[in-house]
Amino acid sequence: MRSDISGFYKLPVERRLRILRERAGLSKSDIKTLAHNSALLHETADMMIENVVGTIQLPIGIATHFKINGVDKFVPMAIEESSVVAAASYAAKLARPEGFKASSDEPLMIGQIQLKSIKNMEKAKKDIVRRFEELKSIANGRESVLVKLGGGLKGIELRELDTDRGKMLIVHLLIDVRDAMGANAVNTYCEEIAPYLEELTGGKSVLKIISNLAARRIVRARAVWKKNDLGKETIDRILDAYAFAKADPYRAATHNKGVMNAIDAVMIATCNDWRAAEAGAHAYAALNGYKPLTAYEKNKNGDLAGKIELPLAVGLVGGATRMHPVAQVALKILDVNSARDLAEVVACVGLANNFAALRAMVKEGIRQGHMKLHATNIAHMAGAKEEEIALVAKRLVEEGNISYSRARQAVKQVRYDIRKKKIKKLIRSVRQRVQHKTERKN
Ligand code: MEV
Repeated sequence: MRSDISGFYKLPVERRLRILRERAGLSKSDIKTLAHNSALLHETADMMIENVVGTIQLPIGIATHFKINGVDKFVPMAIEESSVVAAASYAAKLARPEGFKASSDEPLMIGQIQLKSIKNMEKAKKDIVRRFEELKSIANGRESVLVKLGGGLKGIELRELDTDRGKMLIVHLLIDVRDAMGANAVNTYCEEIAPYLEELTGGKSVLKIISNLAARRIVRARAVWKKNDLGKETIDRILDAYAFAKADPYRAATHNKGVMNAIDAVMIATCNDWRAAEAGAHAYAALNGYKPLTAYEKNKNGDLAGKIELPLAVGLVGGATRMHPVAQVALKILDVNSARDLAEVVACVGLANNFAALRAMVKEGIRQGHMKLHATNIAHMAGAKEEEIALVAKRLVEEGNISYSRARQAVKQVRYDIRKKKIKKLIRSVRQRVQHKTERKN
């Protein structure tokens, strides 16, 4: 399967779906789910959250041209912001033929048990370490699918904190959650082990909960963009932009927002917990003062080498991913075998979008890329009808004035032009008919 389809964006939706069906091996019913029936049924929605009154839909776009660890991929992205899908595809196209290289840690999540009122902290710590194997066999001894699959409690970390309310011992449970995002499994482990730790340490447990700083579940990806494609000046300017983000948290926040544009879009398309991804990514970025999640340098050939590193807790099983029919189709399109595979794709898309945003900003400016779709949105808001939208948008882009007030005027002008054209056409055809009749008479 090849994902490098040029001009995918120019095709009508039906044709794009046909390509997806052929190349990603989707069934007719998958296509129906994606294209015609993607609204979540109220019955399903009602099982997902409380007090359901409806559902909301987002566009799903396919990022093309991705090649990850030698394998071509289509990447479904659900997002309301224009240009993100185009940017990802463009960066992936420029990264070919090598594409992206990605790797990931084992899916280890951290569960935190907060213990207070411990009288002898040193003894408590020693006792926990000494009895860890016992704790582990109690925790993993339950009939658990996770343990059968090779997951479960793997390790422990102890952290002593001096807080406003006295000394606390924080016990980190390191739990391999396999192909799950892991929150449920981790919280269960924490709640089950806490009473043993209370008994062992004489302390009192307060919180027993997952940490979204999934620092043991790191994903890395890298790609090289060639000097011949970018030009030396653009590479230097991208390095300037990166230096700015490294030196300034105000800029780093926006830099990382660009990364998360893409990451969240894939998380949403697969119904993964994107709030967890956001929390983890930003906490990781802030570990040593807030920094960019990506890094760039010139390699020995003068090309631009980019990389990304961040924690990503994604799942293929459980929760909304299993329940939502569109998420299931999205996973089929992604063709991933494990949560780690999915996390690697997500990281590559994050790097791709960040690179594309930097490239656009140091070259034509970000507005240029956004302009056409933005103008289309404004034309729509200003009341342009289907046949008028493209014409109004074109005018706004040509004039460089994409404002609502200008769009209102442009709608009137376009409508007037269309009517004038129609009348002219009508007059021409009446004239032709009259001429035809006269010729026949003669
Ligand atoms: C917009 O959604 C994202 C950007 O602001 C990211 C960036 O500035 O790097 C373009």
